[in-house]
Formats: sequence, C-alpha cells, structure tokens
Amino acid sequence: MANSRQRAGDSIAISRRYLDSLLVEGRIVGAAHPSAAVSLFGRAFDTPVMTAALSHLKPGMAAFAEGAKAANAACCVGMGDCAELRAVLDTGASVVKIIKPYANQEEIFSRLACAEEYGAMAVGMDVEHSVNVRDDRDSEVIGQRMKLPTLDELRSYIRATRLPFIVKGALSVRDALACRDLGAAGVILSHHNGLLRWATPPVMLLRDIREAVGPDFLVIADGGIEDGFDAFKALALGADFVSVGRALIPPLETGGPEAMAARIREMTDEIKAMMVRTGSPDVRQIDPSVIHFCPWAADDES
Ligand SMILES: Cc1cc2nc3c(=O)[nH]c(=O)nc-3n(C[C@H](O)[C@H](O)[C@H](O)COP(=O)(O)O)c2cc1C
Repeated sequence: MANSRQRAGDSIAISRRYLDSLLVEGRIVGAAHPSAAVSLFGRAFDTPVMTAALSHLKPGMAAFAEGAKAANAACCVGMGDCAELRAVLDTGASVVKIIKPYANQEEIFSRLACAEEYGAMAVGMDVEHSVNVRDDRDSEVIGQRMKLPTLDELRSYIRATRLPFIVKGALSVRDALACRDLGAAGVILSHHNGLLRWATPPVMLLRDIREAVGPDFLVIADGGIEDGFDAFKALALGADFVSVGRALIPPLETGGPEAMAARIREMTDEIKAMMVRTGSPDVRQIDPSVIHFCPWAADDES
C-alpha cells in the first residue's frame, strides 16, 4: 500500500519501509544471556554498532570520535584533511578513515599516508560519492572535484597502504565480489542517503552477499539503522557490523560525546534483548531464519 512518507524513488524511505517489514521469531526456550562483544582487525569492541563515516559535524569530529571511544565502538570518519584526522586519532578511538574519491589522486595518497602514520585501524573509500545523483562528470563535494575510480585506480589505492581497505558504496553481490577480488578487506553496503534512487535497501541484499563472499569477508550494513532492533535484523541477515550515522547526531549535538556513547550503549542493549529472545549466544551466531519478511508489516495504520 502506498505510504505518504514514501516519495517515489526515495531510497531512505524505501530502506526504512523494508526494515519495518522484517519480523523476528522468538526462540527463548533454553536461551542463555548473549554477548555483543566483537572484534575487528585484531581490536576488541563492546558492540557491533560502528559509527557511520560522518563529516563536518558541529561539535567537531574529535567529539564524535570521543563518543565512539567512550562506548568502545569502532569509529568510521568521512571527509576531512590530515590535521582533522590527527585530532580524531588523538582521542584514542579505533578509526576507519573513509577517503573521498578525489579527482586529484594526490589528495587520496596523502590521506592514505596520514592514516597509516597517525595510527588509523583501517582506511576506505566511498566510491558511491564519485558521482552525484545525476551522472555529473564534474561532481563536487564541498568544492572538491570527485572522479569515478577505474578498477586499476581502486586497486592502486588498496595496494598503496598496509592498512585494511574497506570499499563503501557496494550495493550488489557483483560489487562485493569485485571488491574482494581487488584485495579489499570488506565492504560497507550503502546508497549514501539515496544517491542511488530506487536503491535496494542494503539489508535486503545481506543474505545473498554473505553467501557469495563467505564468512570471513567483512560486510558492514549502512543506511537508516535507527535503533538496536534495526541493527539486530542486519546482523541476523549476515552483517558483521552496522554503521550508524544520523541517529547519533542529535545526542552528540545536544549532550556531547557521553550522550552519543549512551545512545550506542542503548542500541547495544536493544541488540542483546533481541539476541536473548532468539537464542543467539553471540553476534556471529544469529540464525538468519529468525527473520521473516512480512509485506504488510510496514504499512501505516492509516
Ligand atoms: C552529516 C553527514 C555527513 C556525511 N559525510 C560523509 C562522508 O564524508 N563520507 C562518507 O562516506 N559518507 C558520509 N555520510 C554518509 C554516511 O556515512 C552514511 O552513509 C549515511 O548517512 C547513511 O547512514 P545513516 O542513515 O545511519 O545516517 C555523511 C552523512 C551525514 C548525515
């Protein structure tokens, strides 16, 4: 049924609607209290909630990183220069630096070098932002020109660093396999807030992508994860982590890093509440068959 908040082709609304159409069966009999602890690139985290690669936040990106660190969550950060990255890493957060697909490749190589030198945990690129909503050859992001990387260019970025490299913006089995074959450590499934209109919700693709790439390739689900219940659904369907962006901005802006950390902890508790009731002992052992698609579940009561 048509939904008034769903404008045609609005991928954010479509993803919301899809998440709301997923229902969870209960498997409480014999269940034990679960653990939400996870590890990534040899580091231990208290939660599979990772911050999304945000940028230009009002309280500053260092405050954002402090929030992630206080919750012992992995911290993706987006567009920004080396000085900002140093401030972010000075907080002690475990940082994945997502670099823009700049037309000027020197901008890319210099950020890769800074990330390595300053101690980032991993790097990546949001290839989905190399073009805007239209096929704009002179795509700009905040005054800087972007360019679609060729496969050879992407491979050269992956090889230019000793750090694990994550490709953000894969949104198909084909792209996930291509990234794995190029030597990437993982992918962030994302339509970047609707840059691709009529996008398949990232969570809709998870089962197929997980099956195609196997258990050891890092898969992160991004886009519209608003609470721990959304996060649980993504984790159950095969994500190793969920990337949460907009849902963390209000607490950060109003209450600073501690309020942001509190929201991450709350989301983690919501994940654990779902885990215990589905007989899922840890994040890696959630049975995807607990999730059921219910086409009418997302309809408004009106
Ligand atoms: C304020 C803001 C800044 C963002 N900056 C970046 C960026 O620099 N690099 C990037 O890859 N994505 C950036 N994103 C996109 C997010 O990483 C993420 O893909 C998107 O917001 C969807 O996740 P969400 O629904 O949890 O917010 C930004 C999003 C917001 C809201």
